[in-house]
Amino acid sequence: MTLVKLRDKFAVDVPWIDQEHEALVELLNEIHANVRAGETHFRLHYLLDRLVSCTESHFAEEERKMLELGYPNYENHRLQHKILLNEIRLLQTAYRKDYVMLSSEALAHMESWLTRHITGMDADLAKFIKQLQNDDPDSSNPSNS
Ligand SMILES: [Fe+2]
Ligand SMILES: [Fe+2]
Repeated sequence: MTLVKLRDKFAVDVPWIDQEHEALVELLNEIHANVRAGETHFRLHYLLDRLVSCTESHFAEEERKMLELGYPNYENHRLQHKILLNEIRLLQTAYRKDYVMLSSEALAHMESWLTRHITGMDADLAKFIKQLQNDDPDSSNPSNS
């Protein structure tokens, strides 16, 4: 199963957010493909490490932007990032210690978590950013901040 077609279903129409989401989804898809192919632990460790670091930097970027723009739902959004990141880190640690096999179920759980976040909280954030952009076209471009 190909997991997520981000462009079709989950685009929030803020280019830098969509690009980062797409990178996360591609990584998840790659992990899934590697699990199905029976790839080595070494390769999966590497991909999980990348997933953690990409997720950390993506969440940090969103949080930085929310603070900068005075986003009203910042605390809730940040909390959901924290919970999601903890889940990914737990999976990474458990896998590293060989407590668990990396199962399709565990990956599917993470994917549904992430996609719910994207279509819920991130879509709301994007709406807020676009609203500000309409008021001031330069206000939500990260390269301007
Ligand atoms: Fe988010
Ligand atoms: Fe996001």
